[in-house]
Amino acid sequence: MPRDDHDDGFVVASQESESRTNAEKASLLKHGKINGASGDIGRMNGDIANVNYNGAGAAAALPGQRSNALAIPSYLQEHYYWAYLNPRNVRLLDREIIVKFILWGQHRRLRDAAFAELEPGSRVLQPACVYGDFSPALATYLGPQANLEITDIAPIQLAACRRKLRNLPQARVRRADASLADNNVFDAVCCYFLLHELPDDYKHKVVTALLERVRPGGKVVFVDYHKPHFAHPLKPITSLIFDRLEPFAKSLWRHEIVDFAAAPKYFSWRKQTFFGGLFQKVVARKMAQS
Ligand SMILES: C[S@@+](CC[C@H](N)C(=O)[O-])C[C@H]1O[C@@H](n2cnc3c(N)ncnc32)[C@H](O)[C@@H]1O
Repeated sequence: MPRDDHDDGFVVASQESESRTNAEKASLLKHGKINGASGDIGRMNGDIANVNYNGAGAAAALPGQRSNALAIPSYLQEHYYWAYLNPRNVRLLDREIIVKFILWGQHRRLRDAAFAELEPGSRVLQPACVYGDFSPALATYLGPQANLEITDIAPIQLAACRRKLRNLPQARVRRADASLADNNVFDAVCCYFLLHELPDDYKHKVVTALLERVRPGGKVVFVDYHKPHFAHPLKPITSLIFDRLEPFAKSLWRHEIVDFAAAPKYFSWRKQTFFGGLFQKVVARKMAQS
């Protein structure tokens, strides 16, 4: 199994502490000066993230590290190393033209449909990085008064995203696993093409965790694949690509996104499909009294 040898393999959430060297961080960890994830409601996105691979797809712990620190999930390592963790390919693929191509020319339309659900000036969570200009465009759309938090489990993705957001102080980037609980609550969550890459148990965890991240009245916006019309000319090629490269995507052909929510009744659900049903936008609005 290839190593993720990216230098940013050990990230602490606060911007201030990112200037520490890994050795300093390890020492602080060992002596309990910075906190790990908290325990009593299960694993949480905390302050500590460590992804030093041992070469077998599991995360190796530093001395003194708590066992519930963040690790790269095995589905990502096994099925998407080439796309999101391999440094050479990340440099190659992180381009707007690639996203446009992968999404059959529908990226701008889908992106704008997602943005249309979000209020400029609001607090928004984007729970996974997206290649190309998505994040800077979202930060620009939300405006200088907004607060955009972009998270991802892969340090190499965070580093690339951070570079793209250099002149957009309304956006901040931090390491987190979208499937884990977190105390920060937002006006909206914008989840763009993450679900299809997750095994179904993770789809459940991520949908459920993201629904917890909005205030009453707030929205979670999912944009992702959907089962195309049976006569869609791109259905056979999409099916082939999914069978070869995206082993968890077809579950979105069989299930509705709402089916992955643990407590759907506390939300009103709205779905719109695009491009002959190949794509969908699902908006879950949290009821005011939930
Ligand atoms: C949003 S998805 C794909 C988006 C789209 N296909 C594109 O062109 O970028 C890819 C990202 O999800 C991240 N990811 C996967 N599982 C995650 C998880 N459990 N928590 C946070 N980020 C995750 C990966 O590290 C990767 O950066």
